[in-house]
Amino acid sequence: MEVRIKTPIPGPRSIELSQLRALNVAQGHGSVCGIFIDRAEGAHLVDVDGNIFIDYAGGIGTINVGHSHPKVLAAMKDQIDQFVHPCFTVAPYEPYVSLATNLSKRVPISGSCKAVFFNSGAEAVENAVKIAKSYTGRKGILVFSHAFHGRTLMAMSMTYKEDPYKKGFGPFVPNIHRLEFPSENVDLDLNNLEFDPRTIACTVIEPVAGEGGFIPASRNAMAKLRKFCTQHDIVMVADEVQSGFGRTGTLFAMEQFGVKPDLITLAKSIAGGLPLSSVIGRSDLMDSAHIGGIGGTFGGNPVACAAALAVLEVMDDEQLPERANEIGKKVRSKVESLKDKCLWIGGVRGLGAMIGVIIIDPETGAPDKKRTSRIHKYALEHGLVMIPAGTDGNIIRTLMPLTIKDDILDQSLDILSKAIVNA
Ligand SMILES: Cc1ncc(COP(=O)(O)O)c(C=O)c1O
Repeated sequence: MEVRIKTPIPGPRSIELSQLRALNVAQGHGSVCGIFIDRAEGAHLVDVDGNIFIDYAGGIGTINVGHSHPKVLAAMKDQIDQFVHPCFTVAPYEPYVSLATNLSKRVPISGSCKAVFFNSGAEAVENAVKIAKSYTGRKGILVFSHAFHGRTLMAMSMTYKEDPYKKGFGPFVPNIHRLEFPSENVDLDLNNLEFDPRTIACTVIEPVAGEGGFIPASRNAMAKLRKFCTQHDIVMVADEVQSGFGRTGTLFAMEQFGVKPDLITLAKSIAGGLPLSSVIGRSDLMDSAHIGGIGGTFGGNPVACAAALAVLEVMDDEQLPERANEIGKKVRSKVESLKDKCLWIGGVRGLGAMIGVIIIDPETGAPDKKRTSRIHKYALEHGLVMIPAGTDGNIIRTLMPLTIKDDILDQSLDILSKAIVNA
């Protein structure tokens, strides 16, 4: 498939559907791009006007194996032919147990592990907190600036950015404490804490802050945090909803930090685009929640579990974590090569193919959200779908399928370069 733009963007059919949408869909569920999708395959999206785009949003990081991967589709179809949803809470089935067994073996956590499944990233985070609370008998939660953990009450309360995620939705869950997210430039400061560590059930940290702007946590800080958690019997939770599943060059980003968390939350790319999320962790911790205390009607739906088992096979067969590193290197060197002539490139950061390009005002060094929006608009109009990130909305992020072929990647980088240069 080749990029093809044959109408103004959005095209006439997309505009018609947008009008219908405005009348019938709650505006709160926004969309970054005004194009409506007709088909998707590999790294491409085809809209209802016949325009063909390369996809750097990947369903916000849910499509690491590419759209409509034939092996994943086949697994979904086979499962649909068997049964769709007896509900694990009523009568269990093998794909759930096989997936739990598989993931528990792979997760970078010491000792024997268990898994449990839900539908969304927010639900995984909520349940990790519930598990940590029942294990420790404590109420407090420690989170970080720039964090995004989801939109449900607990996850939203743990999230950092006020607008749009929290605006007007308080009161929030109490006993949540926040420290500066520790990165290359920000040390993890555990002195003069305004809370008693013995009241904290868990800390939840993204190894690479996703929505917050693709900021990798520092290795030193992770080691310090691990030590702090061990010292005070705090459960360390790595939220890998966005950084997980091959995106950063390893199946789990935590593999690159030299420390092991107690629990990991996963979602997004684990089931090739179907809603599935998971908490995986130390068996003693996972078993601390009483029977019936966690779960849900649709959690661990068999079609999603079958898809996830196929996704794992694809990850191994096509060596997608390794591929993430190759993609990331190419993106980095392309953007770095523009730095001299585009003084608004404030830096490039990230891990593997989870790359963030920082857009600034060259005069003041301040985040430049407007220029970032111009870059996204130009890219879309020339066949590249992207979504921004960052607490200040000034980060270009890459969440392309890891199955993207080199020639398509080159095409996409040409569009991205022109978008940055012309901004
Ligand atoms: C790190 C992280 N945690 C949790 C979530 C919430 O996931 P969901 O939107 O599936 O509820 C997200 C979503 O972007 C995320 O990036």
